[in-house]
Amino acid sequence: MSGFELRNGQWWCDQIAVDALADEYGTPLYVYSRARIEENYRRLQYAFKALTPRIHFSVKSNSNGAILRVLRELGSGFDVVSAGEAYRVLRAGAVPASIVFAGVGKTESELAFALEHHLGWINVESVQELEVLNRLANERNAKPQVALRINPQIEADTHHHMNTGGHRSKFGLDVDDARSVLLQAGQYLNLDIAGLHVHIGSQLANTVETVAALQRVLELATLHPIRNLDIGGGFPVPYRPDDELPDPSVFAEAVQQVLQTHPSTPLRSAHAVSPPEAGRRTGWDARFEIAIEPGRSIVADAGVLVATVQYIKVRASRRIVVCDASMAELIRPALYDAYHHIVPVKDTKPSTLVADIVGPVCETGDTLGADRELAEVARGDRLLIMNAGAYGMSMASNYNSRPRPAEVLVEGRYHHQIRRRETWADLVRLEE
Ligand code: LLP
Repeated sequence: MSGFELRNGQWWCDQIAVDALADEYGTPLYVYSRARIEENYRRLQYAFKALTPRIHFSVKSNSNGAILRVLRELGSGFDVVSAGEAYRVLRAGAVPASIVFAGVGKTESELAFALEHHLGWINVESVQELEVLNRLANERNAKPQVALRINPQIEADTHHHMNTGGHRSKFGLDVDDARSVLLQAGQYLNLDIAGLHVHIGSQLANTVETVAALQRVLELATLHPIRNLDIGGGFPVPYRPDDELPDPSVFAEAVQQVLQTHPSTPLRSAHAVSPPEAGRRTGWDARFEIAIEPGRSIVADAGVLVATVQYIKVRASRRIVVCDASMAELIRPALYDAYHHIVPVKDTKPSTLVADIVGPVCETGDTLGADRELAEVARGDRLLIMNAGAYGMSMASNYNSRPRPAEVLVEGRYHHQIRRRETWADLVRLEE
């Protein structure tokens, strides 16, 4: 087991005491375990082994260049949603063909970037975007691989901000629009429309909606030859100690089941007369490739945010523990009411307090944990805010003119700073 562990009364990241890192770099501080990222990646690979998918790490969950390089070295591709993310990934040494570019509002200059850098797939989310991309490709004599992102009109069982497949969601093409595009795919002379993409949400609580969404998408795959089926990410992570959520292997099995049993898999119709590519896969007889786009399930539990207790006060018999991390460094609790487990870095005493753990930002919503059972803590004690590796630093801001924290990557007994703490000068650097 790699990652964060309580040993001898304090929390360690692999072979380094978190407290020592906080001494060296100060707080608030993001700390990541390389070994845990690798373990999570391999666990997903193993869970999906029967489908041998291409794995595209979802860069929005953590876009630090060092983390992207770790994933590239593992053989991962990347899912990006802006040219900025694509830029980061290319800078981290990714092969352009391993990049999938999705996003509901790609600008013309972003699409041009994708064409000029020959990104692997462009996942298109509207009919107008298809037309624009076709024109831009024609102007550049290009013919990119295009996947249609489908909005299957299925509501995932998750927080409404993380639901991307419902009736009111802005994402993807409606099934009817996708159907007419596929039936007239030849009309887009400069687009190689050969993929379908579906992602119904993040932190999915079960596989029911995923299965329903895939069934809907697979029906479309009978209309036009499809080489790639991208089933998105969303594999959940337990944030609470008692969370019970399906393992990625449960999703893998459900997906496999749909592919095996769907009466109209693309192969049977589109490739019915082509010779079977025997032995390429085990378990099912599909000839299109599967792709997945995990973010959270790879990095969430590989990262923590470390904070220092500044003040403690008692109000109406409640403890308020004010620490130096806030919604600016980790916005998930404020934005989604998300739960992040919080423990003292030196964790020797029983949890006897009930406390609100808050940050210094001038917003009532700046609460990192409400009504938490916590051991008695004092000024200067350090806290570990767990499962902060995904959508932590990537969503951090400078609100209240707070310099963003440093990030450190632990590799066994070694560690290095992968992003330095911002300074006050950084805050004003771009101002005229
Ligand atoms: N693919 C697409 C098209 C997506 O929109 C997302 C996430 C992913 C993959 C990766 O999903 P994951 O495996 O990480 O669940 N900020 C929120 C999460 C927003 C997710 C947006 N899309 C949070 O902090 O929970």
